[in-house]
Amino acid sequence: SMLIAWPFLQSCVNGNNKYDNDPLKLSPDFQPHLDIKLNAVERDMALLEGKKTRCWTFESELIKGNPESLQQIAGSYLGPIIKVDKGQKIRIRFTNSLPQESIVHWHGMHVPEEYDGHPNDVISNGETYVYEYTVMNRAGTYWFHPHPHGETGEQVYMGLAGLLLVSDKEEKKLNLPAGEFDLPVVIQDRSFNDDNQLVYLDGGRMDKMMGFLGDRICINGRANQQLDLKAGCSYRLRFLNGSNSRFYKLAWSNGDPVTVIGIDGSILESPKKLPYVMLSVAKRIDIWLDLRNKKQGDKLELKSLAFESGMGGMMDGGMMGGGNTRLPLGSEYRLFTINLDEEGSNDYSLPENLVAFKKLDPAKAVNQNNPREFNFFMERMQWTINGRTWEGTEVAEEETVKLNTTEIWQLSNKGGEMMGGGGMMGGGGMMGRGNKNGGMGNMMQMPHPIHIHQVQFNILDRDVSRVEPALWNSIKDGFIDEGWQDTVLLMPGMKVRVIMEFKNYKGLFVYHCHNLEHEDMGMMRNFLIEDDRKSNSIKNFK
Ligand code: C2O
Ligand code: CU
Ligand code: CU
Repeated sequence: SMLIAWPFLQSCVNGNNKYDNDPLKLSPDFQPHLDIKLNAVERDMALLEGKKTRCWTFESELIKGNPESLQQIAGSYLGPIIKVDKGQKIRIRFTNSLPQESIVHWHGMHVPEEYDGHPNDVISNGETYVYEYTVMNRAGTYWFHPHPHGETGEQVYMGLAGLLLVSDKEEKKLNLPAGEFDLPVVIQDRSFNDDNQLVYLDGGRMDKMMGFLGDRICINGRANQQLDLKAGCSYRLRFLNGSNSRFYKLAWSNGDPVTVIGIDGSILESPKKLPYVMLSVAKRIDIWLDLRNKKQGDKLELKSLAFESGMGGMMDGGMMGGGNTRLPLGSEYRLFTINLDEEGSNDYSLPENLVAFKKLDPAKAVNQNNPREFNFFMERMQWTINGRTWEGTEVAEEETVKLNTTEIWQLSNKGGEMMGGGGMMGGGGMMGRGNKNGGMGNMMQMPHPIHIHQVQFNILDRDVSRVEPALWNSIKDGFIDEGWQDTVLLMPGMKVRVIMEFKNYKGLFVYHCHNLEHEDMGMMRNFLIEDDRKSNSIKNFK
């Protein structure tokens, strides 16, 4: 394969120097609709009874723009909710006041390379990085979080995350619930010690391997698992799974179907009613909740139902995972209770048709018959992508795509099958599923939520022929493989083909597992979007 030297690439591709991002040198020609300060700081917050919890949080300040565009969630460690329209220009002045390096990534957003929050762009304590970009995305629920290599897990866990809500003309026509009826529901799991402090990676290396699972659910950055809504009203609930590695099988406890109207970077063509929804790490699902038949005093519960987690009994039960003993990933538990303490009314009704959608045409893909293959598996006790781990300045030939092309990528969770076709280790992957003999070596398998920066893709197909049937049966009715998405859950043995277009911006971006411990361990790689002009800068290696 081939490698490219990163600094050289920068000057070659951009013609400017991304390290020269000085807050005092705001682009004079850039007239933002919204201009905000975002400061990552350490704060002690009242999350539990008694002693305050040391958190890291994004504090924000509006410099220019509609005050409605910047909202805080009271009493929450989460950052602000930023609301923008497609076509608007936004400037964010990010200051790092943390004791670690950091950089902010706009998850799901289509932005130029220098504003994507590449791990190479980290800034130190006291420094500021300015983002200036035009919002090109469709209406949808996007989010932002730090992206330094090796410390993303800790920084998100300590509280650094916020929402970026994009609206557009198509969405506005639908008259969806707005204002107090358009509510974020950010689900995260945390562990607190007896001193009310956050506990992270107390299980050491095993927690990193498996991904950290907390034992307590936080909703919207508060340890309180309650939402107060009004009986008689309809709501748009924008779910974000902001957890490090936990994912959920969302269901209403009264057995009502879950009505989904949006996913990641899109509103669906029409509402989908599902018995439950799989909410994988980093994903957003917009849910319609009709409370018109409910009365004051009623309660409703949202649960995560039991499922086969793909991690095996021993792992998931916590025998091997330090802090993970109390809330196994695949068990059933309550996420939150909705209290209807007040009556209200609004006249939103669920549209039959939402936003028309046309999937990218596989016939237009440059590699229609020969998709790029990315395999996610463990090798020598390392989570890898095609056997490689993170290299800040390198990109392989198979990770280099051309600007203005459409491509199909085949993403496979190879798990145990890497050990060879048949037998104990093959296919179903005994080892990942509770083998009592311990040794993990190359055989461990786990779910991997795979995320590609810069694009929103369409899912072409999901091949489950090598997924253990009991596992698949326990989750299969919870997937929405429609619309524009940026993250896809690969359960062990699963193979998903996605199609996407590389347009507008060339440069170096990343793709990775969004299990943040896996990402931090190196299950992340660069990919390069190049135009023809620069292909002579690729050097042979090995
Ligand atoms: Cu939400 Cu590269 O991540
Ligand atoms: Cu992202
Ligand atoms: Cu992973």
